[in-house]
Amino acid sequence: MSLPDPKSPEPEAIDAAFEVSLRPPLFEEFSGQEKTVARLRLMVEAARQRGDTLQHILLSGPPGLGKTTLAYIIGNAMGSEVRTTSGPMIEKAGDLAGLLTNIERGGILFIDEIHRLQPAIEEYLYPAMEDFKLDIVIDQGPSARSVRLNLAHFTLIGATTRAGMISEPLRSRFGMNCRLDYYPAGQLATIVSRSAGLIGSGIDEDASQEIARRSRGTPRIANNLLRWVRDFAQVRADGKMSAEIAASALTMLEIDEEGFDEMDKRILESLIGLFDGGPVGVNSLAVAIGEEPGTIEEVHEPYLIMQGFLKRTPQGRVAMPKAYRKLGLTEPKKTAQQDLL
Ligand SMILES: Nc1ncnc2c1ncn2[C@@H]1O[C@H](COP(=O)(O)OP(=O)(O)OP(=O)(O)O)[C@@H](O)[C@H]1O
Ligand SMILES: [Mg+2]
Repeated sequence: MSLPDPKSPEPEAIDAAFEVSLRPPLFEEFSGQEKTVARLRLMVEAARQRGDTLQHILLSGPPGLGKTTLAYIIGNAMGSEVRTTSGPMIEKAGDLAGLLTNIERGGILFIDEIHRLQPAIEEYLYPAMEDFKLDIVIDQGPSARSVRLNLAHFTLIGATTRAGMISEPLRSRFGMNCRLDYYPAGQLATIVSRSAGLIGSGIDEDASQEIARRSRGTPRIANNLLRWVRDFAQVRADGKMSAEIAASALTMLEIDEEGFDEMDKRILESLIGLFDGGPVGVNSLAVAIGEEPGTIEEVHEPYLIMQGFLKRTPQGRVAMPKAYRKLGLTEPKKTAQQDLL
């Protein structure tokens, strides 16, 4: 069984060693996402019984919910090597050919950020996924000719934070499409306790809950907050992580009871303060708060929408009553005109 490759590119892993060591290597250690995990385990079991290769799998969902982790878990469960790359890293057809021709039967190619593949590369991928063939053009001008390469039966695992940006032809070539959701606080608390054990720090059940509640449903955030609480406890409280210490530590980071960080607050403040609660397009909102529209859409909005603070409408983003309450404001009376929106 191969362990996850510690060199795998993880763009936002600030402390890569910390994250990798906390990555559960087996389905048994992966908490939550029960339906997805049950489906994946069944697929793996069936493929193993038949001595077959796995179907291609697409994993989608907001950052930090476990897509990369699951890709490695699947590799471990199949006893297959996982080669990792990402959409923007594949620049030429030759790059793709290099990756695919090096994979043995049953091997896994993991393409992170698959929504960022160039359309031309995507075209090459279709026959590779469907028929395990790759037609590439070599040479230029009059001597240019197309060569067909036969590939070993491999499994493609794609991950994306933007499921909506995957073209239909690509999506339909995945045999299994899994969407990961935010974790309920109870499950995050289990993850926090497990992580605390792995980094060798004792933690109260109440403290795990406190961290879990403020982690925006996201295991990566929970692990990062745990690390901060550990540092705080070490310096201010002889290393003991209690609920009270956890709360003080998180208050020092200005993460409030609902896990809102600075950017979440700014989004709601501009939406209400500058744009009268909307509707406003994401681009205008992005300019107002000095953030990339893509980051707002991928990282911040999904959680705000899921929690009922914000709504996406065809006209733009609209603040919900909960957003006004959060900022201690009363929602203005709607006019008949606004009701029509
Ligand atoms: N279900 C889980 N149980 C325990 N830990 C988890 C779980 N899901 C994620 N983690 C932890 O959260 C971290 C982030 O997960 P991962 O890197 O797989 O997210 P991702 O979905 O690939 O994010 P991104 O979209 O940013 O690439 C992992 O290092 C792992 O420690
Ligand atoms: Mg990832």
